[in-house]
Amino acid sequence: MPNTASSDAPQLLVELRGVGKTFGGTSVLDDINLVFQPGAVHALVGENGAGKSTLSKIISGVYSADSGTLVVNGEEVDFGSPREALDRGIATIAQDLALVPALTVAENVFLGREPRTGGFLDRRTLRRQFVDLAEGTGFELNPDAKVGSLRTADQQKVEILRALARGASFIIMDEPTAALSGHDMELLHGVVRRLAASGHTVLLISHYLSEVLELSDNITILRDGHHIRTGPAAAETEATLIEGMLGRTLGSVFPENSPAAADAADVLVVTDLMAPGVNGVSLTVRAGEIVGLAGLVGAGRSEIAHAIYGAVRRAGGTVEVDGVDSSSSIPAALHNGIFLIPESRKEQGLVLSRPIRQNVTLSNLLQVATGGWVRPTREKLAARDMLERVTVAGDDRRNVSALSGGNQQKVLFARALQRSRSVLIADEPTRGVDVGSRRAIYDLIVDQAAAGIGVLVISSDVEEILGLAHRILVIRNGRIVAEFAGEDMTEENVLTAAFADPITKETS
Ligand SMILES: Nc1ncnc2c1ncn2[C@@H]1O[C@H](COP(=O)(O)OP(=O)(O)OP(=O)(O)O)[C@@H](O)[C@H]1O
Ligand SMILES: [Mg+2]
Repeated sequence: MPNTASSDAPQLLVELRGVGKTFGGTSVLDDINLVFQPGAVHALVGENGAGKSTLSKIISGVYSADSGTLVVNGEEVDFGSPREALDRGIATIAQDLALVPALTVAENVFLGREPRTGGFLDRRTLRRQFVDLAEGTGFELNPDAKVGSLRTADQQKVEILRALARGASFIIMDEPTAALSGHDMELLHGVVRRLAASGHTVLLISHYLSEVLELSDNITILRDGHHIRTGPAAAETEATLIEGMLGRTLGSVFPENSPAAADAADVLVVTDLMAPGVNGVSLTVRAGEIVGLAGLVGAGRSEIAHAIYGAVRRAGGTVEVDGVDSSSSIPAALHNGIFLIPESRKEQGLVLSRPIRQNVTLSNLLQVATGGWVRPTREKLAARDMLERVTVAGDDRRNVSALSGGNQQKVLFARALQRSRSVLIADEPTRGVDVGSRRAIYDLIVDQAAAGIGVLVISSDVEEILGLAHRILVIRNGRIVAEFAGEDMTEENVLTAAFADPITKETS
C-alpha cells in the first residue's frame, strides 16, 4: 500500500445494515443502511434528537442495535463495549468529554497504555511520546497540566490525541468543534483532513453546516431516526441540508429585536472588575438591552461572566444590580436577580441522573417549595411551561441523561428563564443546538430583553452575536478592547478587534 499511515492504521470498511434502535418503546433509529468509505470524512447531520449520537454509539460499542447488523471489513460484529470497538480500531471523541480530571494531559492521552519501567510510570518516555504525537497535530498543550484545570477547547484536544494514541482507524467526532473557536477550529479541521488523507475514516457529527460542507466527502441526513439520504457533499448546500434535516425550509434565523428604550435604567453596572483572567472591566447593561461579549476562546469572556456572577472571588471592583451593590458570591447574585447559563452543561449545569423536571426547577426550589418540601404539582406545572417554551418535548420525568445533547442545553435554558429577574448572562447559549431550535433560543433571549431584563450574551459565533446584540464589547486579555453599536457592528470590525496584535494594543 502506498499510503504511509496505513501501517499503523489499517483501513476499516464499516457498514450498517438495516440497523434499528428503540429506547423505552420509542424507535430512535429505523432501518439504517450506510457504508463508510475508508479514507473519507463522512458527516452526519440532523436536528437535536434525530439519532446521530445514538447511531455513532452503536458503531462504537456503547449500544447494541436492536435489529440489523454492524459489519466491519465484511464481518458481522457485535461489540459488547467501547473497549471491544476500540480493539477493532474504532474510537470516539464524545459529545460530553470523558477524561480523568485529576490526571495530567499526557496521562490521559496514554491512559491504560502508559510506558512503565519496573512497574512504575516512566514519565520521561510518556512525555516524549506525547510530544511526538502532539507535534503531528499542531496542538499546543502542556503535557503536565491537570486535565481538570483545562478549558473545554483544550480538553477536546486531549481526547483527540488519545484516540490517535490508541491507533484508531475509524474516528467518531461528535460535535468536536462545538467548544472551539477560530484558531482551534482551524487546527482541528487540519487534523480531520490529515486523518482522512492517511487512510482513517472520520465520522463527523456537527451542527455547523458550513463546516460539514467544507470538510466532508459524504453527508448523511437523519430525521427522526430515519435515513433521509446520503450523498457527496459537493451535491449539497446549507439550504438543501436544512431542508433535509427539518423537512421544511427555515426563515430568518434571528428574530426581530428592537433596541432598549432610550430612557431605560441601568440594571447592571460593573466597575473596575478584577478577578483571575479579568483585568479591570467596566461595563453597563440597561434594562431591555442585549450586550454581546465577543472575542476568542481564552480571551476572558467566561471569566468576566463568572466574576460578575460571583462564581469566582473578585479581587477588586464592584458589581451593582438595579443600583444595589452585589457581593461576590453566587447566592448574592441569585438574590439580586442575576442568573448565569454556563457554557459547559455537564460540569456546571445539569444533574444528569435526575429527572428533566427537577433540573428545570432545581435552582428554583424556593419558588416551588413551601416549608422546605418540593410540591410536585407546582414543580410539574412550572417545569412543563418552561420546557414547552424551549421546545423540549416528551415526558419530563425521564432523566436528563436520556436527552440528546442539544436538548440538554435547552433544559439549562428553561431553568434560567425561571430564575433571572434583572440580568441574564448566557455563555454560548446555542452550543450544540440545531439550526431549527436555535431560533427558539434566540426568541427566548429577545423575549427576556423585551420583558426588561438586561442580557449579556457570550458567543464564539460572531454571526450569532451580530444577529442578537444591540451592542458588542470585544474582549481580549481580560479587558474590553473595543465597543461597537449600530452601523459599526460588522463581522470585520469585531474580528479585527478580537485578533489585533496585543503588543500593538498595549502601547497604544
Ligand atoms: N440512554 C437513552 N435513554 C433513553 N432515550 C435516549 C437515550 N439516548 C438517547 N435517547 C433518545 O434518542 C433520541 C436520539 O438521541 P441522540 O442523542 O442520538 O440525538 P442526536 O441526533 O445526537 O441529537 P443532538 O444533536 O441534540 O446531539 C432522542 O430522542 C433521545 O432522547
Ligand atoms: Mg448528539
